[in-house]
Amino acid sequence: MVLEPDRSAAFRKQVAAARSADPTAWEGTRHLVHPTEWPVTRDRLLKAIAASAVSEDIKRHLTAAFAKDQPSTGRTSYPDVLKQLTGLPTTKGLRALCIFFGVRAASVAKWLSPSVSPATVDTFLQRHRNPFDLLLDQVPASVLDLGAGDLSFAEELATRYGSSLAAQQRPLILHCLDRLDPRSQLGGPLHAHPLRLSRLRAMPNLDFRFYGDQDMFALDLLERDQRLASRYLIVTCWAPATPTFAYEPTRLSPACLTEELRRTKGDSRQVRHGKEPALEVLHDGRSLLFPPWKFDIRGPLALLELMATRGALCLLGAVDSQVFWEILSQLVDDPAMRPPDTVFSPQTLPAVFGKIYHHLSGLPLGQTCRLADLAPLRSRFPSVLRTAGGQAASYRFREVTIQRGALFEGMPASSTARKFQGMAEETPPWFLSLVPELQETT
Ligand SMILES: C[S@@+](CC[C@H](N)C(=O)[O-])C[C@H]1O[C@@H](n2cnc3c(N)ncnc32)[C@H](O)[C@@H]1O
Repeated sequence: MVLEPDRSAAFRKQVAAARSADPTAWEGTRHLVHPTEWPVTRDRLLKAIAASAVSEDIKRHLTAAFAKDQPSTGRTSYPDVLKQLTGLPTTKGLRALCIFFGVRAASVAKWLSPSVSPATVDTFLQRHRNPFDLLLDQVPASVLDLGAGDLSFAEELATRYGSSLAAQQRPLILHCLDRLDPRSQLGGPLHAHPLRLSRLRAMPNLDFRFYGDQDMFALDLLERDQRLASRYLIVTCWAPATPTFAYEPTRLSPACLTEELRRTKGDSRQVRHGKEPALEVLHDGRSLLFPPWKFDIRGPLALLELMATRGALCLLGAVDSQVFWEILSQLVDDPAMRPPDTVFSPQTLPAVFGKIYHHLSGLPLGQTCRLADLAPLRSRFPSVLRTAGGQAASYRFREVTIQRGALFEGMPASSTARKFQGMAEETPPWFLSLVPELQETT
């Protein structure tokens, strides 16, 4: 039984095209050829081959190659048949055939979830300066960027890791979202430029999605439709929005928050700007317009829970001082560092955080510090979000490291992080790496 060279060359081309058309599906086939899955996959592959429209001689060769208890087909061995029909070594050849014949395990979600343990992420962080390098070390190389703004971080990340991952024949999965409506006249430089969007969409080996007009706390629909993965290797948020994350509503009462916003930002009211709603803020005698949700206060607990339940590693970059201290007060075990109705300021911070405040404010630019070396980490976080199923998440952070500064060598950064460089009057921002551990819910 000899295959005609022209026919096998044409088949090889079709298999190669199917394989490169969907890098994410390619990644998912690893699971299908795992020794424990292979017997089931082989049966499904045989059925799919039989039902397919490929020529009878190719069908015969493949069927003979996969027939049970027959590792070779007469003169042609199993790997040889695969090599001839896919141009690939055995395992990759099998994976390519799974894609070509549309075999996907029913139980496998569209996006692979990371299975790396918190201990492994922790060890990786101790040995590497750049936490984003985890993408080169663990499967899948997936990132969710929350409040992605102008997508400059996304583009830097894709440029930095795209080719190294391509060399490992792995796609970079990069999903970004922002609450700003791309059609809005408000938001100025936070909008993603159409050219950047098209560059990202055209990058090879990149599974890029951008969801504008998308509140990060309303992901149910995107997750249900699998337009987002349920978990990513890395969840990141650069320059978390102020005042959204600068005040914790479980610590500060509505009256305290309203008064603080009025005092620091000015009077505000909902107005219309052309056809869209807007928030008008009267600040220093000027009228400023923002998206209508600008003053929605969610607080660090909501952000931490969202990130901990969606990522194996959570990275917060270019965190401004106000947001940083509010986040920090939630990360430590001591409830005295979460005083009710005390607004954090240079006047109140030293008394609330004591030696932690003095140590961290003296941290030189670029230096790293383990929070656990300064204070015990919080052992259990209250859940402030509800999942679609209605359960409360239970989590803690196994490790929290803090770095001072906006930019770090070799690390991609957002445009806001780059702007910090030019702001002499701003104190340097912070970079936080957090390794979450999900706990059993009761
Ligand atoms: C300070 S900007 C930072 C933008 C970008 N990450 C950077 O570092 O340049 C904060 C971003 O968060 C977005 N944002 C605020 N609240 C959000 C929410 N609830 N869901 C999604 N995005 C939000 C804003 O629209 C804005 O683009």
